[in-house]
Amino acid sequence: MPKTILILNGSPRPNGNTAALIDAFAEGARAAGHTVLRHDLRALEIHPCLGCLGGGKDPAHPCVQRDGMDRIYPDYRAADVVAFASPMYYWAVSGQLKCALDRLFAVTESDGGTPRKETVVLMAAEGDTPENYAPVRQWYEALCAELSWTDRGQVVAGGVLKVGDIAGHPALAKARALGASL
Ligand SMILES: Cc1cc2nc3c(=O)[nH]c(=O)nc-3n(C[C@H](O)[C@H](O)[C@H](O)COP(=O)(O)O)c2cc1C
Repeated sequence: MPKTILILNGSPRPNGNTAALIDAFAEGARAAGHTVLRHDLRALEIHPCLGCLGGGKDPAHPCVQRDGMDRIYPDYRAADVVAFASPMYYWAVSGQLKCALDRLFAVTESDGGTPRKETVVLMAAEGDTPENYAPVRQWYEALCAELSWTDRGQVVAGGVLKVGDIAGHPALAKARALGASL
């Protein structure tokens, strides 16, 4: 069954390694008949969560803040699958992605609970060991467990630092296959 896939791109580098993973993933997903929606968070003005717990009063604008998140909320609601794409920054996701993720809480406030989603991770990192990815894996799997999200796959391109390092990396084929498998 065709699905709607929302990609949240947390990389600030337009043609970087995360972008290459996203392109491969989206190519696989489109080839399988899915609809792909993509937001490059660097291009949107997205402020950090205020922690006010005051959202949810206006379903059209679930957060009290009016900014780039208003372009993401409808796509998040519509998505069957959310892809969290990010470079690894200090053994975590980038600040751009974390800000957007925190702000999705406004939909939880507005819609009476966290929407059920299938989720994936696409990540580029300089380190290339399971130990290097372990903190992100632990965080993401806790997130899925707490929010009742279903993890559909995690693709990590390790050993890539500079733009272009990812060329020919086996993670690109894995990302394409993951997109096609949804
Ligand atoms: C601020 C910063 C923090 C980083 N922290 C890590 C890290 O903790 N572990 C790691 O393996 N790579 C780390 N890196 C390397 C990036 O993850 C790597 O360069 C990645 O390929 C960048 O993806 P991009 O091309 O999409 O920007 C860091 C890079 C920057 C700029």
